[in-house]
Amino acid sequence: MYIINHLIKTPLHLQLFEQVKKDILENYIVGDKLPSIRKVASLYNLSRTTVETAYSQLVVEGYIESYPKKGFIVEDINASTFNRKRNHDNQKENKKIWLYDFDPVGLGKNSFPIKIWKRLFNKYIDENIDFGAYPSGQGEEGLRIEIAKYISKSRGVNCHSHQIIIGCGFTNSMEVLAKLLSPKYDTLSIENPGYNMATHSFKSHNYNIKKVPIDKHGIKVDVLEKQTSRLVYVTPSHQYPTGVTMPVSNRYKLLDWAEKNDGIIIEDDCDSELSYVNRPIPSLQGLDKFGKVVYIGTFSKSLSASLRIGYMVLPEHLLDLYHNHYTKVHSTVPLMMQITLEKFISEGHWERHLRKIRTINRKKHNLMKSLLVEKLGDTMRIEAQGAGLSILINPNVDINKDKLKDLAKKEKIKIYFSKNICGGDWDAICMGFAVFKEEEMEAAVETFSRIWHKSKNNIEKSGSGSELKRL
Ligand SMILES: Cc1ncc(COP(=O)(O)O)c(C=O)c1O
Repeated sequence: MYIINHLIKTPLHLQLFEQVKKDILENYIVGDKLPSIRKVASLYNLSRTTVETAYSQLVVEGYIESYPKKGFIVEDINASTFNRKRNHDNQKENKKIWLYDFDPVGLGKNSFPIKIWKRLFNKYIDENIDFGAYPSGQGEEGLRIEIAKYISKSRGVNCHSHQIIIGCGFTNSMEVLAKLLSPKYDTLSIENPGYNMATHSFKSHNYNIKKVPIDKHGIKVDVLEKQTSRLVYVTPSHQYPTGVTMPVSNRYKLLDWAEKNDGIIIEDDCDSELSYVNRPIPSLQGLDKFGKVVYIGTFSKSLSASLRIGYMVLPEHLLDLYHNHYTKVHSTVPLMMQITLEKFISEGHWERHLRKIRTINRKKHNLMKSLLVEKLGDTMRIEAQGAGLSILINPNVDINKDKLKDLAKKEKIKIYFSKNICGGDWDAICMGFAVFKEEEMEAAVETFSRIWHKSKNNIEKSGSGSELKRL
């Protein structure tokens, strides 16, 4: 923002020249484009001649150059004078320091259907949209209808579109819930280990958090029964992080607990779309006859985490409460995102995209698994596989974790431990596969295996190996 004072003696073009020059030196990098003469003239209420004079002085002094069809471009006068240029370069370097990043929640950069998305966006952005109005805080009805159809068909969720609340991802849904359910509920029970964002979102609304251990059937309902909490967060289709699937017997036990205790179960179904071995079992919400389950879903795992679109399904009896609390809350997802997503689903692209993304990620999953077996052999065991975006492993031999971390840093490999995301005693290394191109995965796992073998302590332990408990 430049300040042009029409009341002082300094000519307007000189005032503009000095300020644009300063801006170039402090904030621009070589190759950046300056705003057009017309734009600057209109923005600062100046004549075009004034702006032209200021720009041509900048050209004469070598700060910028005028290129046909491109406009005014910042020149390379002397790199050391561009403060921000150095900063920009550093930022870029920081981002790029990883040779291999085993991101356990990232999708491949090229897996987003960019062409279709752009086409739909352009097709549906027209004068029928009221850009002057605030969109519905609950989310656009058209998108809610499409989501309701999709989750009832694919996940057996029982719902109507009026029960769906659209928001910018999981944390947003959890925060809305935390506000909605307080003060009737003041304690949240959560699986241990469990997703720490669930804990954070309720903790920030002053809830007490109680941890409930899990076993191979998911959350231990008998422990939950002994806690005073009437609110529980679970990931039944693919427990986060261990990958355990909650069998139907335990689901009924949990629903029974909720019914007896006037409780609410928050079902986070985030990984259900990416199941490579078995068909995912239907949602817990679909078994619920008494409106005890709040279902939360996201588009982050199969479409894009950067779109920031998720949703939750409230039971009917919470809707009045929601509407009383939230009539004045604005949408957290931009209108055009919602409309584009609605059309993406209704025109059949979502189903096709899901089939494609499952096939691609199944291949990557299988490749990662076979490479891990080939390169680490029986020095490791697989803890969780067959779904989601990562395979979890643990050592069967005595691995020095600190050494592994140090070597990873030295070799520029980014590795992830589930304990850092979930807390608790249980830990595993999360080997994200979706972010890699198939052709680069071998080199990535090979590099990882080198540091893995170098991190082994001499005395090999048999069986359970690491300090970690098996489920
Ligand atoms: C357990 C769990 N739930 C939900 C999500 C989705 O989060 P969001 O919708 O904010 O992208 C994630 C993302 O990694 C997750 O790990």
